[in-house]
Amino acid sequence: MSVAAKPVVVFVLGSPGSGKGTQCEKIVSTFGFVHLSAGDLLREERKSGSDDAALIESHIKVGSIVPVEITINLIKKAMQKNGDKNRFVIDGFPRNENNYEGWEKHMNGAADLKFVLLLDCPDDVCLERALKRGQGRVDDNVDAFKKRIAVHENETKPIIEKYRRMGLLRTVSSLASPEEVFEDVKKLFVDI
Ligand code: C5P
Ligand code: MG
Repeated sequence: MSVAAKPVVVFVLGSPGSGKGTQCEKIVSTFGFVHLSAGDLLREERKSGSDDAALIESHIKVGSIVPVEITINLIKKAMQKNGDKNRFVIDGFPRNENNYEGWEKHMNGAADLKFVLLLDCPDDVCLERALKRGQGRVDDNVDAFKKRIAVHENETKPIIEKYRRMGLLRTVSSLASPEEVFEDVKKLFVDI
């Protein structure tokens, strides 16, 4: 009797505007992973007008992090919806200690975290990209961006350091063009 393999997961982290979504799309088209963006899942949930919509909006507006019980539930549901697929790139998660602990509590043992990809790019370049992407996001303006960078510094960086200590961090500079960055990203995905 065959036992269903645990889903393989790669987390993609980096400052807002560092190219997480762009690189994930390329990972999907080249390697057949399913891309789940924590930010996109939260924006969709906000749009649905569910009970959590107002709370989600209040966080997204100022760039603070939504309580993990909401986010992990959306991630789990999205993974189940793609139940026939077994490899996921999850972008923008875990963003703080609460996110990290939520993953450990609900998913540790249920998924096989292969590594954490960090897209590394100077803040001024990230800001320029975020302002240029023109997706009409409430948080792609200079004020909200500054708050999101501060959250990344104060809350996400300690999580990144934790993964570094665990030997799971893979850092790629995302300063070059998306195509050039992907040349480096690709090397990390060939054998998984
Ligand atoms: O990753 P992205 O920039 O799309 O995230 C947008 C916003 O969604 C964040 O600034 C934050 O308010 C919220 N978010 C969150 N928890 C996550 C990912 C995103 O609260 N794990
Ligand atoms: Mg994104």
